[in-house]
Amino acid sequence: MFETAKGMIQSRLGKVVWTIAAISITLARLPFWLVYYSPQNLRQHPKWTYLQAIMHRVLRILLYHSALMEVQLPLLWEPEIQKDRFANIEPARKDIYQGVLADSNIKPATTGGWWFPSPYSAKVDEEMRIVLYFHGGAFVVGEGRADARFAATTLAVNLKAKVFSLSYRLSSTPTCQFPAALQDAVTAYQYLVDLRTDAKQIIIAGDSAGGNLAIALLRYIEDNKGILPTPLAAVICSPWLDLASALETTNVDQHASNVTDYLVGNFTVWGAKAYAPAPMRVDNPYISPLNHPFFTHAQLWICVGGLEILCADGVRFAENMKKVKGNKVEVHIEPYASHAFLYVGNLTGFESEAKHAIKSANEWILETHV
Ligand SMILES: *[C@@H]1O[C@H](CO)[C@@H](O)[C@H](O)[C@H]1NC(C)=O
Ligand SMILES: *[C@@H]1O[C@H](CO)[C@@H](O)[C@H](O)[C@H]1NC(C)=O
Ligand SMILES: *[C@@H]1O[C@H](CO)[C@@H](O)[C@H](O)[C@H]1NC(C)=O
Repeated sequence: MFETAKGMIQSRLGKVVWTIAAISITLARLPFWLVYYSPQNLRQHPKWTYLQAIMHRVLRILLYHSALMEVQLPLLWEPEIQKDRFANIEPARKDIYQGVLADSNIKPATTGGWWFPSPYSAKVDEEMRIVLYFHGGAFVVGEGRADARFAATTLAVNLKAKVFSLSYRLSSTPTCQFPAALQDAVTAYQYLVDLRTDAKQIIIAGDSAGGNLAIALLRYIEDNKGILPTPLAAVICSPWLDLASALETTNVDQHASNVTDYLVGNFTVWGAKAYAPAPMRVDNPYISPLNHPFFTHAQLWICVGGLEILCADGVRFAENMKKVKGNKVEVHIEPYASHAFLYVGNLTGFESEAKHAIKSANEWILETHV
């Protein structure tokens, strides 16, 4: 019964009708929330502002409906918009796509991304660090330009870097499941490595699914020695580490932090199934790294929101990574923040938490770097 309803929602006309209905219902409920959340003690958390309370409601509904409709967003590569900040990247030489990346169906493809806060200039930016940023969105939504603007700007300012934000292939598009996004990540990393004589000027960063991707890229670099140089560090926010557990909606919907987070089970199920469709093993270390620590030459800095569903997983993964001899790992908690506050902090009202966190990351990287 549910599957039939889902099929109807996902048909083209169904999508239009559903979207109109969803927007109408949301708008109809909005006045209620606007009143309901006025008193502080009725908000999801007493420390939250009015805006934070409302925005979490709105975001949750957006995610829920995008999951029901399984929206397919085109990759908005519009080179005509701010042409000089956009880079179109062709796949690199074949031999850098080895091991998990040598897939018989999914092949390296053209990818692209945007420079923040301004175009990269070989002359002017010679001494600048470069950050390669992967946005979040459960591997099924999001893009590297408008959506990632707050994250990219925050990283640029606080890591004193030029940021390249990648629009990797999304698994909501057919034939773009794992390892499509990781192939794009490798393509982009090679592109940045080619700009530099020293890869130690590069930092990899990501939120949520983008954090998963950043960790997968670090693992790929270590597993395939000699193909790609090691970056200086990875700066990761709210990584999505266990797609296997995300396949059960109750793990998200019944979580003790379900009130203070906007993630919904339907959305994570959609993302996990799209990225790693059966018979692919969702417990593959490249897909669900939570219990698969590894050695990395890069300094690993992870932050989580204290009120988010994925908080405990982030802390546990950091602990697992710390136990591996030679790893340099730091975990940072922003106590009142929810999920992916670097990526969507500008929407959820956690701008200052995002800035504070990345500033701490910068200090830690400088202190720990030998
Ligand atoms: C964050 O949001 C504010 C208000 O919506 C906007 O003025 C500002 O430009 C945004 N900042 C970034 C970096 O996107
Ligand atoms: C949140 O989780 C609790 C159990 O931890 C459950 O009783 C409650 O119904 C959940 N709330 C929502 C909105 O799913
Ligand atoms: C959405 O979540 C509800 C409750 O958690 C569940 O009954 C339903 O099957 C889910 N739908 C999808 C498409 O996963």
